[in-house]
Amino acid sequence: MITQIDNCNAALDTGKSKDLYQRSLELLIEGSSSPSRGPANYGKYPLYMQSGKGSRIWDANGNEYVDWMMGFGVVPLGHADASVTEAIYHAATTGAHFATATEIEVELAEAIQRLVPSAERVRFTNTGTESVMAAMRLARGYTGRAKIVKFEGHYHGWWDDVLLNSHPMPVHALGLPSDPVKIPDSSGLNRHAQDDTIVVPWNDLPALERAIANHPGQIAAILTEGVMSNMGVIPQAAGYLKSVEKLARKNGILFVLDETVTGFRVSAGGCQEYYGLSPDISTLGKALGCGLPVAAVVGRAEIMNALGWGGVLHYGTQNGSRIGLFAARANLKKLTANDGEAIKHSLSIAEAMCDGLSGLFTRMSVPAIVQRVGPLFQIMFTERSSISNYREYCGHVDQSLYRRFVQKMLESGIYMTPAPTLHFNATVAHTEEDVSLTLDAAERALRAIGF
Ligand SMILES: Cc1ncc(COP(=O)(O)O)c(C=O)c1O
Repeated sequence: MITQIDNCNAALDTGKSKDLYQRSLELLIEGSSSPSRGPANYGKYPLYMQSGKGSRIWDANGNEYVDWMMGFGVVPLGHADASVTEAIYHAATTGAHFATATEIEVELAEAIQRLVPSAERVRFTNTGTESVMAAMRLARGYTGRAKIVKFEGHYHGWWDDVLLNSHPMPVHALGLPSDPVKIPDSSGLNRHAQDDTIVVPWNDLPALERAIANHPGQIAAILTEGVMSNMGVIPQAAGYLKSVEKLARKNGILFVLDETVTGFRVSAGGCQEYYGLSPDISTLGKALGCGLPVAAVVGRAEIMNALGWGGVLHYGTQNGSRIGLFAARANLKKLTANDGEAIKHSLSIAEAMCDGLSGLFTRMSVPAIVQRVGPLFQIMFTERSSISNYREYCGHVDQSLYRRFVQKMLESGIYMTPAPTLHFNATVAHTEEDVSLTLDAAERALRAIGF
């Protein structure tokens, strides 16, 4: 489970931030709308942010920050991008919801299909969690099989069936890699929801082969992140995901790629383009709506058509929200214009940051590494030269040192993810100046914590 930390930011124990915190105490749980924005990651005070533009955000006390969190990666164009805000304005002033089909649904689905060829059919949802729920119901309905494979350290939203083994734990609690202990991440789960979930270590093909052999004809789907992005940033071992896809096909199992984090970011066509994959079903979210809650489940027509007539039922009052879809269309248009110039810029910023940080760690003899895939990267304080799976992460990454470092960065006006298991998000809006400000602050922060 998440453990509480005590990194109260003294600078926020004052002014409007303090006032908001005090008012929130008897209104909101932990002062915010999600435990990831509460004391588990921020100490006593949540951060109260007031506005954002490009790569910068301002807190309730008026302090400015270079933002590397970028709304958990949902704003690939940066905050308040003009083309997105214009699109939102247009949609809002012409009607938010008609309880009918809309032209923008067709247009956005076409745009997604151009970028993600496996998206032969598209169904819009609002969040990654909903997309994963729909994908798993589809897989079970289509195959007539009950079980799903989920990997250690992967997070797929807060739905009962997949809410297990997604937080760092002491290694001794995990059991053997050959038979991982199932560790639910929450109280209150449906007691039987995880009976049909098989947990397998990632980046370990023999372990997956064993799990399939142990459950012949019973597995509907193998669900995987394309990049392990909820345990820092851990890339696949070369060719691993392609092998998972082949193994799934060979056994009549659907290969379901969760691109909630990687979609439209690792490359325009997501991880599947980057690694040359052909998933049966994919889930998309986060970066799609450029800040608005737009997500989708997409996939092969034959499978997706099972949603027809509610055969596999998926409802949703807010599905295909017109305002969100307009934002998403403007977002994809800008992200892919001029031969993907925008995404290329994000990648070059991420590369400059990673090179700079690695150089700093070497120069200052800091036991830390940076792992990156595309615009996603994360610092891990570790003696190891790389971290390649969940168990290595649990056993060899110093999370408390990371939190102390991040706290010092915040005091220097750099907002990184306070959760060691999340990651930095480089975007179109970041500049070389942001990189050098961050590297200067990192050097000061490392000195302040004793290097
Ligand atoms: C890989 C992955 N899948 C699914 C989700 C759930 O998405 P949402 O928070 O939009 O429900 C997340 C959220 O962080 C995620 O990282």
